[in-house]
Amino acid sequence: MAEFRLPKNSRPQKTGKVHKAEGAAAVKRFKVYRYDPDSGQNPRFDTFEIDTEKCGPMVLDALIKMKSEQDASLTFRRSCREGICGSCSMNMNGKNGLACTTAIEDLKGDITITPLPAMDVIKDLVPDFTHFYAQYASIEPWLKTKTTTPSGKERLQSPAEREKLDGLYECILCACCSTSCPSYWWNSDKFLGPAILLQAYRWLADSRDEYTGERLDELEDPFRLYRCHTIMNCSNACPKGLSPARAIAEIKKLEAERQV
Ligand code: SF4
Ligand code: F3S
Ligand code: FES
Repeated sequence: MAEFRLPKNSRPQKTGKVHKAEGAAAVKRFKVYRYDPDSGQNPRFDTFEIDTEKCGPMVLDALIKMKSEQDASLTFRRSCREGICGSCSMNMNGKNGLACTTAIEDLKGDITITPLPAMDVIKDLVPDFTHFYAQYASIEPWLKTKTTTPSGKERLQSPAEREKLDGLYECILCACCSTSCPSYWWNSDKFLGPAILLQAYRWLADSRDEYTGERLDELEDPFRLYRCHTIMNCSNACPKGLSPARAIAEIKKLEAERQV
């Protein structure tokens, strides 16, 4: 794993508040990154002690407990609580993941929680996804066709054609992969990064899409695609078990094949 990088605009300067769990039988300590740009103060790490016997098993359960019982100003995103919406992505003990599917007992010692690395921070554990979503929109992530629908109703796929989308359609756009990629840390202004390239391949691999050539034209660029140097952090980081590195290799293969 490459060196862990803190969020871009917010390097913690000092130790923050300590929230004790008085009388708890089993205490776990969480060091949580806090940053409020409106306060004019530097970021800090607050310490929260959690009684794990009175808390659900996941890191998200602990964050919800901190917010409801210890500090209501603690800010983080979450929605589904089951690894489907992708909104609770963050860095826990140096590894990107989903707070709702990461078990507290799997993280040894004190647990340090920061926002996804190398992104601007809006507040506490909430990174700014504006640029990431603009990059997603840039690959035109929808079915594009030139011909009229053959059946007059819908475009069919064989089971084998549909199977080619496995390992791609499951992506929840959590950005755990892109924010673990050193190439994306340094060049995110121009490099699309693993998440968006996996999404781009999802449409290239779709037998119904008729814009393969145009899509490959758009991607054939020294930065947009070829800033991937096969570092592989992306595939190690994906909480859904997907392999953006493999999808990127497939795009490079398609680009090479049309040269011959
Ligand atoms: Fe998240 Fe995995 Fe999709 Fe990357 S490929 S955005 S890590 S689900
Ligand atoms: Fe980055 Fe993954 Fe390529 S970590 S360099 S996108 S293989
Ligand atoms: Fe939806 Fe974690 S809350 S993925």
